[in-house]
Amino acid sequence: MELLKQKVISEGIVLAKGVLKVDSFLNHQMDPFLMREIGREFKERFAEEGVTKVLTIESSGIAPGIMTALEFGVPLIFARKQKSLTLTEDIFVEKVYSFTKRETNEITVSKKFVAPGERVLIVDDFLANGEAAFGLARIVEQAGASVAGIGIVIEKSFQPGRKLLQEAGYRVESLVRVASLEDERVTFVEEE
Ligand code: G4P
Ligand code: NA
Ligand code: NA
Repeated sequence: MELLKQKVISEGIVLAKGVLKVDSFLNHQMDPFLMREIGREFKERFAEEGVTKVLTIESSGIAPGIMTALEFGVPLIFARKQKSLTLTEDIFVEKVYSFTKRETNEITVSKKFVAPGERVLIVDDFLANGEAAFGLARIVEQAGASVAGIGIVIEKSFQPGRKLLQEAGYRVESLVRVASLEDERVTFVEEE
């Protein structure tokens, strides 16, 4: 997605250890025009997948998620993160380990909002190791629903998330694919 690529080039800041800071349009300040275009792009790519819900994880997934849900005309659910858990029977729970933050969160979704047979499109801001996406997919499957696809705003292709998700049978669509953040420079995967 060319608009997003240009934003990454002009405003992205490469931090040490392979982290791309995009605080000016995605992770802190958010660009609503760009979010709308992101929603439209995911709609186009997953138009034939019969999507009935969009699922993301708080907090940075919510903006691209809501715009995608708007395009499909379906609700957005965001999974909540919590450090420790009060177990109840009304929620789906999965553990998600973050390599970036070196912590495990339990993510939860109310059973009220995902029904058997639904086609759930997972959307997230970043894909690194795929832990968050796998956790969301496990929740969808616990519900007896199916994953319609995984839509990622920025994929770090030098980390294994995409490969692992594809090997598990999921369709992954990433709007930009970052090949490397070496030498404080962003380079992109060449697309056909
Ligand atoms: P994974 O889910 O693919 O395994 O990724 P990882 O655990 O490494 O990511 C942990 C958090 O860091 C996630 O946000 C993810 O979106 C974010 N993240 C990963 N790599 C980058 C990066 O290069 N740049 C930025 N800006 N973020 C990155 P989170 O903990 O869910 O936080 P939130 O911002 O959504 O609240
Ligand atoms: Na995220
Ligand atoms: Na994030």
